[in-house]
Amino acid sequence: MIRVFVLLFVVATCHVWSTSSSVDGQCIEKEREALVVFKQGLVDEYNVLSSWASTGGDCCTWRGIRCDNSTHHITALDLRAESNEQILSGQIGSSLVELQHLSYLDLSNNNFTNIPEFIGSLSRLTYLDLSYNLFVGIIPSQLGNLTRLEYLDLYGAPGYGQLIGNSLEWLSHLNSLQHFGLGNTDLTRATNWFQSFKTASSLSLLALSNCVLPQVDISSLSHSNSSSNSLTDLFIVKSSVHPTTVPSLLNISTSLVNLELSDSEIKGILPNSFENMRYLKAIDLSSNEFEGGIPKSLGNLCSLKFLELEHNKFNTTLGDVLESLNGCARNSLYIMDLSGNNLRGSFPDDSNTLPTRLQYLSIFDNQLEGPILTNLSVLSDLRVLLANGNKFNGTIPESIGELQYLEDFDFSNNDFSGLVSEVHFRKLSKLKELYLSQNMLTLKFDPAWVPPFDLLSVKLNTCNLGPQFPSWLRNQTNISILDISHTEIDDVIPDWFSNHASKLMILYLSNNQIHGPIPHYLSSVQVLYLSASLTVGGT
Ligand SMILES: *[C@@H]1O[C@H](CO)[C@@H](O)[C@H](O)[C@H]1NC(C)=O
Ligand SMILES: *[C@@H]1O[C@H](CO)[C@@H](O)[C@H](O)[C@H]1NC(C)=O
Ligand SMILES: *[C@@H]1O[C@H](CO)[C@@H](O)[C@H](O)[C@H]1NC(C)=O
Ligand SMILES: *[C@@H]1O[C@H](CO)[C@@H](O)[C@H](O)[C@H]1NC(C)=O
Ligand SMILES: *[C@@H]1O[C@H](CO)[C@@H](O)[C@H](O)[C@H]1NC(C)=O
Ligand SMILES: *[C@@H]1O[C@H](CO)[C@@H](O)[C@H](O)[C@H]1NC(C)=O
Ligand SMILES: *[C@@H]1O[C@H](CO)[C@@H](O)[C@H](O)[C@H]1NC(C)=O
Ligand SMILES: *[C@@H]1O[C@H](CO)[C@@H](O)[C@H](O)[C@H]1NC(C)=O
Ligand SMILES: *[C@@H]1O[C@H](CO)[C@@H](O)[C@H](O)[C@H]1NC(C)=O
Repeated sequence: MIRVFVLLFVVATCHVWSTSSSVDGQCIEKEREALVVFKQGLVDEYNVLSSWASTGGDCCTWRGIRCDNSTHHITALDLRAESNEQILSGQIGSSLVELQHLSYLDLSNNNFTNIPEFIGSLSRLTYLDLSYNLFVGIIPSQLGNLTRLEYLDLYGAPGYGQLIGNSLEWLSHLNSLQHFGLGNTDLTRATNWFQSFKTASSLSLLALSNCVLPQVDISSLSHSNSSSNSLTDLFIVKSSVHPTTVPSLLNISTSLVNLELSDSEIKGILPNSFENMRYLKAIDLSSNEFEGGIPKSLGNLCSLKFLELEHNKFNTTLGDVLESLNGCARNSLYIMDLSGNNLRGSFPDDSNTLPTRLQYLSIFDNQLEGPILTNLSVLSDLRVLLANGNKFNGTIPESIGELQYLEDFDFSNNDFSGLVSEVHFRKLSKLKELYLSQNMLTLKFDPAWVPPFDLLSVKLNTCNLGPQFPSWLRNQTNISILDISHTEIDDVIPDWFSNHASKLMILYLSNNQIHGPIPHYLSSVQVLYLSASLTVGGT
């Protein structure tokens, strides 16, 4: 009874107030009605817009609405879905055109299906985020009327709609645009796409995902003005990029700081076109089909910190790669990922060409051979060293024990042989992951040795650890993955191993001569591989 009364009261007061267009503390009637109509036109499965009452009320207090304090006009509409239970679906209804004072519109992460043309008449917009919806159809050129836009996001990922861009000429009207994201868009007919981006005067960030980018007509470029733009961040991912377009992309701006052209089917030689990009800090060209070597101009980038070239077909020698990088970049590189290429040759034993400040070096899954760098301690900042899946041979240099910051060390699947002892771990107090499986290594430690580290994951499959159960594992009680299968252990599981039970998730003990009962505490281990190892019995 009381509830009905309150409701009627609200309706009654609203009716009185609606005669004027703006009343203290109340939103504009026409704008409120527009919101109600907008709500009626969409599917709100989870009742996200429950506060949007058709019966009235101050719409400035409704979810996602912000009004100007003095004029009460709606200035912001933010219906970004933060979870699957906040998703709105259907059409973006044209009643929104009433919100002429809107400067901020965020409808991202929903299931809307259309980018309406009327959006071009919301002329005060500075921020428009429509990313991650299910848009289909043509990108309306009316966006070109939003001359105050600073942020425009039409980004997406596979499964998020399919747009067509017939031309990006409208971009040239957006003189304040700094951030532009575009996804799932076929730009085949937008033959001038490159010029549109290159000449966008304020653009600092451009992100394209899943876009079809036609070949750039290079002859038309030479006539266009080489005025410098202010692009600092260029990200092109999972798109189709024609190899002849790459030199132009590398020349799109001299201001570039972050460059990503990844997973975009790019074939061929990486052009030697990095000389004008002296601010470049990060380069990610991973997951393409680049072949050959690394251009020398890349090594002359004095700010380069991150170099990601993994999963390509680079097929020069590692020595040549290091030689190419032996410019200014040698002193700036922190992260270098060359994994999953066809690199050949041995690890040059010349520390004068090594990027000495490297914290992350990944060269796994190549065809490298011979001994690994004798004096590994020159890479004194290394946190991660991944050299697995090559044909490195000889002994593991004792100098690795000097890498005091090393956390992750993977030499598995090589031809290393010889002895690994305490010296190899002398200063490795930060080590978390130790992988030496599939070599011909013997690990021998003083039975009283207490390691300086606290490991989380250990894989020593086919190393010779036996015949005693390795006593150095005694206080490594934080290990969750332990593979000591096929390690020539001929022993019982020691009592202290029960201290490992609470953290162990995966344990491989097979192909050893481990006798005695399976300890009952191992029943909590999620994956337990014991075959051809334990004699079952007892508890
Ligand atoms: C508008 O009002 C809110 C709430 O009273 C206040 O937090 C905000 O600072 C005001 N904004 C302006 C621009 O006056
Ligand atoms: C949104 O779209 C996705 C993909 O089509 C679908 O799986 C999901 O169920 C939709 N959610 C709602 C609330 O419509
Ligand atoms: C901008 O709007 C005007 C009228 O409002 C229209 O004639 C024109 O075509 C629009 N321009 C663009 C680029 O959408
Ligand atoms: C190139 O830019 C300069 C200066 O911004 C301008 O004066 C010139 O007219 C432009 N040329 C062309 C062909 O657009
Ligand atoms: C890069 O652009 C400049 C002018 O913008 C031009 O002179 C040069 O030839 C271009 N280089 C490449 C490799 O395209
Ligand atoms: C690298 O691979 C390409 C393509 O397979 C081949 O044509 C080229 O000869 C190779 N280069 C070297 C140095 O092996
Ligand atoms: C290591 O590999 C190199 C090159 O494959 C080979 O010449 C050398 O004999 C090997 N050394 C050992 C100790 O196996
Ligand atoms: C192992 O024991 C030593 C000596 O008691 C101690 O310094 C070290 O922190 C222990 N490590 C772990 C992982 O418990
Ligand atoms: C083990 O891991 C825990 C967190 O899971 C951490 O607090 C602890 O310091 C680690 N080291 C030792 C020796 O327990």
